[in-house]
Amino acid sequence: MVLDNTIFPTEAEVPEKFKVQERDQREYLINGKMRVWNGAMQEITSPICIRDANGKVTRKRLGSTPMLSVDESFSVLEAAVNAYKGGRGFWPSLSLGKRVEYTEKFVAEMIKARTDVVNLLMWEIGKTEKDAAKEFDRTVDYINETIKAVKELDMNSARFIKSEGILALVKRSPIGKVLCMGPYNYPLNETYTTLIPALMMGNTVVFKPAKHGVLLHQPLLKAYNVFPDGVINTVYGEGKEIIGPMMRTGKFDALAFIGSCGVANAIMREHPMLTRLKPILGLGAKNPSIIMKDANLETAVREGVLGALSYNGQRCTALKIHFAHRSIADEYVARLSAAVDNLVVGMPWTPNAFITPLPEVGYPQKMRAYEDDAKSKGAKVMNAKGGQIINTIYTPAVMYPVNDTMDLYEKEQFGPIIPVVPFDDMEEIYSFAERVRLGQQTGMFSLDPDKIGMMVDIFSNQYSRINLNAQCQRGPDNLPFSGRGDSAVGTLDIEAALRAFSIRTVFATKDDPVNRELVKKVLKGDKSQFLSTDYYI
Ligand code: G3H
Repeated sequence: MVLDNTIFPTEAEVPEKFKVQERDQREYLINGKMRVWNGAMQEITSPICIRDANGKVTRKRLGSTPMLSVDESFSVLEAAVNAYKGGRGFWPSLSLGKRVEYTEKFVAEMIKARTDVVNLLMWEIGKTEKDAAKEFDRTVDYINETIKAVKELDMNSARFIKSEGILALVKRSPIGKVLCMGPYNYPLNETYTTLIPALMMGNTVVFKPAKHGVLLHQPLLKAYNVFPDGVINTVYGEGKEIIGPMMRTGKFDALAFIGSCGVANAIMREHPMLTRLKPILGLGAKNPSIIMKDANLETAVREGVLGALSYNGQRCTALKIHFAHRSIADEYVARLSAAVDNLVVGMPWTPNAFITPLPEVGYPQKMRAYEDDAKSKGAKVMNAKGGQIINTIYTPAVMYPVNDTMDLYEKEQFGPIIPVVPFDDMEEIYSFAERVRLGQQTGMFSLDPDKIGMMVDIFSNQYSRINLNAQCQRGPDNLPFSGRGDSAVGTLDIEAALRAFSIRTVFATKDDPVNRELVKKVLKGDKSQFLSTDYYI
């Protein structure tokens, strides 16, 4: 079936529950105050288009956000610097237990904004209602689990160690001032998976929303105010213009960034003292699905569709290339194509919608360029409904047979296009991993224990997670989320993130009567936050 503009609603057809008001957000948070920006603004339009009486469709205007100047971004940075105050600030000096109390208040405030944030996730980035709600709820769960993990960390570190005549206490201290930048595909969740642990460990933060999914942070700005002044500050605007100058001041001690490897490198290069900047990075991926000849094809297709096309394939963990053994490749492609053509294309609120509009202007054309390149080198769109462009929508295309001369083989398409490569020998797959250097995850489909054992042994040196008969994914959030090569720096599960945003600090003294007595007096008199064996239950 050929889709047309009628897939987009008229203004009146937007369901009442999801109607959205335009908002021109001029405020940003600096040192605990909402400052109003009177300068240039960034227009925000939705990937959801509205159809007029003549059938013409236009991206819906959602509002605008500040485009801060370099000078203003410096004031934001300065607020974080002053709040940290070389480690003497109120926040970094506070006990973990007290920081937990602030964070609990924040979650209580955050929950009040759920409806607004979920609706904006749908309008700003085209996420389905179900996935938008899941993103919000998963983030709340993540924060609550982080709170539990902090308490555990606090409890486990509240004890002295005696070793080789030394009496010591080892705890975790903040790193300093952190720049947090999240991605547009999970603008709330993935931002908070760095922002919250960074805050909880006593760092102060400058937070810059991703390029899409900016307005959805507005309902949360007030909630940030439960934290002491200057602990969290927001910066808006053109990343290329403001991030470089802020980095060049050398005042950031850590960079939490989720996005492309190229951008991460460009940002870090601006810092005058790279060894002082701790990177915590989630970057690109080209996760392969490997369908062996003995695979259960029903499972491989089901997981292949979910893995390749959930949120239009715009997940870093998406299955971005499918290697099918030549003996079953045609059948896999036929079944995959049928399953893909069964997916519902629609608006984020359309019942069972799976494929929705893409937020980035020109993205369907980017998918078309991949398609054209592959076609010019011998591949075809295999599914009848694949590769249609209807304004901001690109209907998912199964491309086959893809080979190593095509862009789709190596480049991260980050969108609804599924390249399938027929293979004869496992060496083709092992060398693919070596070639792309994006060792995040792999999904392998087989029922043969010998083959599984062999693949696991090799993939465990090439990827950070190996999924058997299942798609790739980040969750559950207590499992390590990492990557090799150009895919990540650091690990981001609930507990690991707390470690990533802190540094182990040792108090040590000679274990003799005088020092023991002194330490006892500090402890009993509650004279230090750090030198304390109290913990928060
Ligand atoms: O975009 C990358 C996300 O971390 C993927 O998370 O596997 O839960 O969708 P997910």
